[in-house]
This record gives sequence, structure tokens and C-alpha cells, in this order.
Amino acid sequence: MSDHLGGPRIYVKRDDTATLGLGGNKVRKLEFLLGRAVADRIDTVVTTGALQSNHARLTAAACARLGLTCILLLQDAVPVDTAPYRRSGNRLLDDLFGAEARLVGRYEPMAGALADAEAELRASGANALMIPLGGSNAVGTLGYARCAEEIRLYERETGLRFDEIVVATGSGGTQAGLVLGRRLHGLKAGIVGVSVNRPSSELSPIVAHLAGAAADLLGREFDGMADDVMVDDRHYAPGYGLPNDACREAISLCARLEGLVLDPVYSGKAMAALIAAIRGGAYGSAGSVLFIHTGGVPALFAYTEFTDRQPASPASA
Ligand SMILES: Cc1ncc(COP(=O)(O)O)c(C=O)c1O
Repeated sequence: MSDHLGGPRIYVKRDDTATLGLGGNKVRKLEFLLGRAVADRIDTVVTTGALQSNHARLTAAACARLGLTCILLLQDAVPVDTAPYRRSGNRLLDDLFGAEARLVGRYEPMAGALADAEAELRASGANALMIPLGGSNAVGTLGYARCAEEIRLYERETGLRFDEIVVATGSGGTQAGLVLGRRLHGLKAGIVGVSVNRPSSELSPIVAHLAGAAADLLGREFDGMADDVMVDDRHYAPGYGLPNDACREAISLCARLEGLVLDPVYSGKAMAALIAAIRGGAYGSAGSVLFIHTGGVPALFAYTEFTDRQPASPASA
């Protein structure tokens, strides 16, 4: 890839590979979220997401491993109505992990479905934990502060210094944890979050807020952390869960040049942003950029129409 693009060395942190539930960034968040749930003797976990949510799938897997009941409120939010989107990919895995999936209509307010589930669980005497969308609260954010520590350790061990770290950002907790961890552990690289769903003006304050809330949990205070939040919002069109041509090209290039599989909702768009930055001359060829592969690959199998519209091979790209 680096040679093909004629840019910096591209390193990939493989958070898509993990021993739990086919992996992905949510494993790091769930380590903290469910660690606390176990300490609080929770027996039932409820969370929300889109029909093909990776967070929902990994929450289901983690609950299976911990013997917790898992209820998923899955909103039919993305206008893809193919059979694979509705039945395969993450949806198939949710069922396999034994979660109870409840579908929430495209125009139905999620708040209502959540309130109903909460009332029902209270009445049944369950000790339930509600995990927010994407696992993005202060506790979940801690998982990615630890990831930043790992990156810093890797730099120390190898003598490398990354110029920049590129990662997909959606509900904001992953980027927020990295931003916090960067300060905690003295990483020099800037963290660029590639938005998959909304403009920077909306997402940046969320990321800054989560970073601050997670710092509070650690009893730390950092000045100007909001200044560290960089959201690139030029790559999510036509919308959340809907791939574009640059995303298709990024997936195709990584597959054909590296045997590396990206997904059409998150990592494909983040890699498209990195490719655009390299082509735009943002990094010198002597530089090193770290791409965090946040997973999401099971969703690829929900987007079969995607394979019919692959761009040309790398040689002609
Ligand atoms: C594969 C993948 N990458 C990136 C993200 C974005 O992470 P966050 O929601 O913490 O911003 C998600 C979240 O849903 C995801 O599933």
C-alpha cells in the first residue's frame, strides 16, 4: 500500500482481530463497561445500535462469555433493505451469541423502546445495565486511553514515532479515549477521527466531552483537550452505513495489495480519508502513519451489492 501510494509507511493496529466475537474496537470498551457490570452484580445488559451494529454484536459475544442476559434494541436506521443486510453479518452473529434482538422501526424513537425495556426489566426484578450507543460513555472511553498507552509503548520499543493516528469515529468514545490517552502517555502523534455519520461541528464537542468525563474518572484534569480533537468529516457521504466510491476503492486496494479486509461502514471510510490525505501530499514519504483498524468486517457480508460495484484493480487505480 505504502509503495503503491508513494506516501508514508502505513502501520495498522489490528483491533479488528481479537479473541472475542470476531473482534473490533468495542472489545476494549466492553472490557471496562462489563468489568464494572460484573463488579456491580449486573445480570442483564441492554444496548442499542443500528441493525448491523458491531457494538451490539460484540456486546452479545461478551455477555455470552460472562453468562449475562443480553437484549439488543436494533434500529432499522440505514436505508438498505436487502436480505443479507437484514439477516446476515452482525445480525446473524447476534442470534448466534444468544442475544435477544428487538427491532426498532426506522422512524420509531429509540428513547421509547429503551424506556419500555427498562420498565419491563425493573418489573421483572432484573439487575440491568443500559450501555449507551457504541459503548460511548466515560467508562467505555477508558478502553481507548489504554490503547494509546499500548501505542506509546510500541513507539518506545521500536524507536518509531508516528506522525499521525487515523481512526474511524462514530459515537466518539474511541477517539475520545485516544485523545485522553495521548495526553496521559505523552504521544506526539495527532489523532484524526474520520467521521462516519455527522459533521465535525456536532461530533467534536461529543469527543471532547467524553475525553473530559473519562479524565474525571481517573481524577485527572487536562487543559485544552478539546484542541486535540480533530474530526475529518469529508468522507461519510452519502450517510451512515452507506458506502461511497472512495470507500469501495479503499476496501479494494487493501484487499488486493495487503490481503487486509476493511468494512464498508467504518474502516473503509477511514482508510479512504487516509488515502486522500496521502494523495493530497499531507505526509512526506519518510513519515509513518498509524491506521487503527477498528473492525466491523462482519458487516461486509451484509453488503453483497457492494461486491458487484468494485472499482478497477490497483494497477489501473
Ligand atoms: C468497526 C467500528 N469502527 C469504528 C467505530 C467508531 O467507534 P466510536 O463509536 O467509539 O466512535 C465503530 C462504532 O460503532 C465500529 O463499529
